[in-house]
Amino acid sequence: MIAWDDSILTGIAGVDADHKAILETINAFIGAVEAGAGAAQVHGAFRRMERCIYRHLEVEEHMLAALGYVGTADHKGAHESLLEELAGI
Ligand SMILES: [Fe+2]
Repeated sequence: MIAWDDSILTGIAGVDADHKAILETINAFIGAVEAGAGAAQVHGAFRRMERCIYRHLEVEEHMLAALGYVGTADHKGAHESLLEELAGI
């Protein structure tokens, strides 16, 4: 399991709530795997994690662009790498 770490708080309530929700879905997925849950349960946990991540990344990219954040392109690149990893899983 992955523990939440306040050092990654952004100070933006919606973003922090999303990040915590993502962590919860990741831990639920890990929990399902570690518990030896059936394929359907593991698959379901993975899909919930995946949807949570996809939704958040899309929202975050729009938010960063709307704010004119100078690191938007780099951050979007990091998201794309993450999505490739996720697709590989
Ligand atoms: Fe994020």
